[in-house]
Amino acid sequence: MSETIDTLLSEDRIYSPAPEFRAQANMDDLSVYEYANTDPEGWWAQWAGRLDWFEHWTKILEWKQPYAKWFLGGKINACHNCVDRHVIAGRGEKVAWIAEGEPGDVRLFTYSDVLREVQKLANALKALGIQSGDRVCLYMGQGPELTLSMLACARIGAAHSVVFGGFSATSIHERINDASAKLVITADGAWRRGKIVELKKIVDDAMAMGCPTIEKVLVYERVGAPGTLTNGLAAPEYDRGVWDDSRDIWWHDLVPNQPAECRCESMDSEDLLFILYTSGSTGKPKGIMHTTGGYLTGTSATSYCVFDYKPTDIYWCTADCGWITGHSYVVYGPMANCVTQVLFEGAPDTPDKDRFWRIVEKHKVSILYTAPTAIRTFMKWGEEYPQRCDLSSLRLLGTVGEPINPEAWMWYHHIIGDGKCPIVDTWWQTETGAIMITPLPGMTDTRPGSATRTFPGVYATIYDEEGNDLVRTHGLPVGGLLVLKRPWPSMLRGIWGDPERYEKTYWSKFSDAYFAGDGAKLDQDGFFWLLGRVDDIMLVSGHNISTMEVESALVDHPAVAEAAVIGKNHDVKGQAISAFVILRGNVTGTEALNAEIRAHVAAKIGPLARPDDLFFTAELPKTRSGKIMRRLLRDVAEGRALGDVTTLSDPAVVSSLKSQYEDKEG
Ligand code: WTA
Repeated sequence: MSETIDTLLSEDRIYSPAPEFRAQANMDDLSVYEYANTDPEGWWAQWAGRLDWFEHWTKILEWKQPYAKWFLGGKINACHNCVDRHVIAGRGEKVAWIAEGEPGDVRLFTYSDVLREVQKLANALKALGIQSGDRVCLYMGQGPELTLSMLACARIGAAHSVVFGGFSATSIHERINDASAKLVITADGAWRRGKIVELKKIVDDAMAMGCPTIEKVLVYERVGAPGTLTNGLAAPEYDRGVWDDSRDIWWHDLVPNQPAECRCESMDSEDLLFILYTSGSTGKPKGIMHTTGGYLTGTSATSYCVFDYKPTDIYWCTADCGWITGHSYVVYGPMANCVTQVLFEGAPDTPDKDRFWRIVEKHKVSILYTAPTAIRTFMKWGEEYPQRCDLSSLRLLGTVGEPINPEAWMWYHHIIGDGKCPIVDTWWQTETGAIMITPLPGMTDTRPGSATRTFPGVYATIYDEEGNDLVRTHGLPVGGLLVLKRPWPSMLRGIWGDPERYEKTYWSKFSDAYFAGDGAKLDQDGFFWLLGRVDDIMLVSGHNISTMEVESALVDHPAVAEAAVIGKNHDVKGQAISAFVILRGNVTGTEALNAEIRAHVAAKIGPLARPDDLFFTAELPKTRSGKIMRRLLRDVAEGRALGDVTTLSDPAVVSSLKSQYEDKEG
């Protein structure tokens, strides 16, 4: 992979932090990198020391690869650190959540409100028989009841397992049984694009498949019965499922009557905080385990340094709590820092494609953290939507989830950030728990498309297939497999119920490093450029070309909003490149444009990278968290039956692509 063609990665635009930003930044001293590198344990212990511990740890780290324990002997509670602590310190009147529902309803919760509500809910969980050490499955829309449920579990020492509110009954069933969860917390429904996601009905279906460990289902009434007015909103027709008196309990019948005091359980630093299932590209979902002290240390430290929180900030992370980003950067990291944040229930195009920008304007959002897939969608919709709104409150922008193509970065920078907001492109994973590679906005120069440097204390490098550290043997620039070399506090502690798979997936490819599964390059200045999953790297006529590089060259063409590229088996070349392209706004896809775009790639990267085929499409197959599923595109291109599509957000997309492809081939 070291011979990967250099293209966009010769990107030479550099943006330094503005002096005004630098002057007020939380992190402005470059020497932290060196300090953290020479004494990583001391560095992390300093951040752990900013949290409240019921009992101090006796040892910072015990590392028996691949098992780490952090802050041994320490006793702590995550909910206490995210809520009680701020109220005790006199910050109770600060707004924690500005919760906006899709229909436009807004509810405010101060930290004192959260403390009161979380204690009632925690008592309700206890009344339902939940104890420290149990697992609780949460299946709800994005909103305060979901975040309260996570915190209430943490308060009493039960581990939550959040299942994204767009997943099917089969997914819930599988995850409940894998974790032997005792309770489900759900809602009657959630608003999505003016319709109702039938959460309770889907839970009923999951129960009908057999969930022997589930004792009760607690149901929050978000929507209300069709035709009635609930919470000021008129509910449309939808299926509310079938009420089972022996199992189902309404939240409003149980929670409000509970005593408003519930002590925080004193948890061991290494006690399980949550399980979150990640599907990966193949196979059974993995129950990624995170524990308490280290996870809270990693997420609170990175939140403070990367998002540069100030008491006056209004922060909005658009991720749903069904994903790790919602766990680390909606709930635990920001709340441990007493941040005021927006929680939004709905879709970015409801009622119109300016919804996000309306929210930024209305709530004066100053820090926005979203995903490249969303940014590319906004590019496709056109600039008029953000330009209708006053976005002047924004001062910092962030992205996560996929490599961001340089053109999408530039669009974000100019159209959303008005050229003045630093962009933090943050690389991390469900498994890493917290941000690993990122700029620190007051001191790191940024380049469009690069996640820049490791967070202080993190040690990432590039290996070849044989496990040689190419940075050592080769020097810079270099490309290969991204590995993490030393333990970090928020690292996963394993896969629930499957230690073998944990060892095999992350620790068997190399004897002395965590294998992230991503390809990356380090440029001559030591900046990281993420190339996507290793499976997404193509071998064309003996050259490694990353799908990300070709996609970025495609998106660089003014007519293109979004692109996905795959390598299709080819007798002569090994792999040939097929491209799937979404055009911007009103552009129509003609033969001439098709040829022009392919020529553009050849001009940008080299003739070798010119796609053999290019298809115009209205949509791309994506996971529900917005990542492009290239595996399905490969199936289409190579004429195979479609693989597992259960994590796909809209299965119709693939069949429409398939028929286009077959038309052409036929
Ligand atoms: C990809 C999301 C490039 C990467 C927090 C990683 C990224 C996977 C970036 C983890 C980024 C995430 N640049 N690629 N800034 N952030 N990825 O578990 O392939 O949903 O391995 O965690 O997303 O996805 P996950």
